[in-house]
Amino acid sequence: PPSTEYQAENATISQGMVESNHAGFTGTGFVNFDNVVGSSAEFAVDAAAAGERQMTLRFANGTTTDRPMDLTVNGAAVRSVSFPGTGAWTAWVETTVTVSLTAGPNTIRLTSSTANGGPNLDRITL
Ligand code: GCU
Ligand code: CA
Ligand code: CA
Repeated sequence: PPSTEYQAENATISQGMVESNHAGFTGTGFVNFDNVVGSSAEFAVDAAAAGERQMTLRFANGTTTDRPMDLTVNGAAVRSVSFPGTGAWTAWVETTVTVSLTAGPNTIRLTSSTANGGPNLDRITL
């Protein structure tokens, strides 16, 4: 099926801010997660049919330290996603993970798992 973009700035954000001060984002900005364990973004994703999908996450990490986040789908832990340094806060890259969706509404959540928080997150696509 064709993929859909879900802008992080439109997600439900906990312990983070929508910002636009680092060029190269899409949409109207990105999420700057607070640099704490537990900062998160939750996306409401509708799926026409159940099944596995490739989810692409677009992010920047201007540090040299990975900023891993825990991924859950519909409340169930899926995996930890690595967000390594990208060289600059304006250097946006993509990483892809597989998620399994149910037909109809799904909740996809990313939660920072280290005290550095997450990367700056632009969007997810799936
Ligand atoms: C800088 C940068 C932010 C980023 C933050 C961080 O302050 O401007 O966009 O989120 O570093 O280290 O998380
Ligand atoms: Ca941050
Ligand atoms: Ca965006």
